[in-house]
Amino acid sequence: MKIIAERFAGRRAVVTGASAGIGRATALRLAAEGARVGLIARRREPLDEVAREIQAKGGEALVLVADGSVESEIAAAMDRAAKEWGGLDIIVSNAGIELLGQDDRVDRLDRAIWDKLITTNLTGQFLACKHGARHLLAAGGGAIVCLGSNCAYLGMATNEPAYSASKGGVLAMMKVMAIDYARLGIRVNMVIPGFIDTPMNAPVMKDTKELAYWSNQIPLGRPGTADECAAAILWLASDEASYCIGTTLVIDGGQASI
Ligand SMILES: NC(=O)c1ccc[n+]([C@@H]2O[C@H](COP(=O)([O-])OP(=O)(O)OC[C@H]3O[C@@H](n4cnc5c(N)ncnc54)[C@H](O)[C@@H]3O)[C@@H](O)[C@H]2O)c1
Repeated sequence: MKIIAERFAGRRAVVTGASAGIGRATALRLAAEGARVGLIARRREPLDEVAREIQAKGGEALVLVADGSVESEIAAAMDRAAKEWGGLDIIVSNAGIELLGQDDRVDRLDRAIWDKLITTNLTGQFLACKHGARHLLAAGGGAIVCLGSNCAYLGMATNEPAYSASKGGVLAMMKVMAIDYARLGIRVNMVIPGFIDTPMNAPVMKDTKELAYWSNQIPLGRPGTADECAAAILWLASDEASYCIGTTLVIDGGQASI
């Protein structure tokens, strides 16, 4: 990874879903580029590991154990980071789940699975943005980057209507937030990962046939990495993206361009 030292010096960031995959890579990279980073996820141990990794390289991290879909927990986590650092500047609204094999064709889809995906992926991002934006407003502005998916507007995730709907909801919410906050100093944008090698895709990554099948759908011929997504998230969160709001930056090896 190419580090642009100090690009985020003095910035205070919170990343949801920071214990694994894209969130972890983003937290590590933000810290390497000078930001203080609040790490949100449900379990303490994996967050402690990420924090140790950041601190070992001289960075500053704060472990914030919270379930992103529980409003009191996400509010308390954002408040704690803001209190610790005197405000917040960047929110990466990233936490999400995919329930492969449980999310299913609509006529077979269990209501409880629908609710779980919508609550975690859509309501969770709403809550991160809500309680993060309050601190960005108090600080006079900042940047929010949401995580979306191509399946929000392409019927590519067959048998995953609930996951796709959750990402469609986040896309619509992000566009409206971008306009609502445009003149209040908060830039809101979205990174749209394609097929990325993270724990979310571990079953596919381990299955040679499945991996070959999915890689074949991608013009670049391989899955992306969490760090390639983190690079895009950091760019949108940085001052270099000062004229971008409501943008979707697609990091998918060309998959959606076919
Ligand atoms: N990996 C991909 O191919 C891909 C593709 C498109 C979109 N995305 C999106 O990117 C984001 C990150 O995905 P990833 O691949 O890094 O996933 P991952 O499973 O590797 O990591 C997800 C992170 O979110 C956290 N999380 C899940 N539910 C949570 C909750 N209720 N509260 C707090 N934290 C919670 C997990 O603990 C973990 O830290 C997700 O929003 C996902 O939908 C990923």
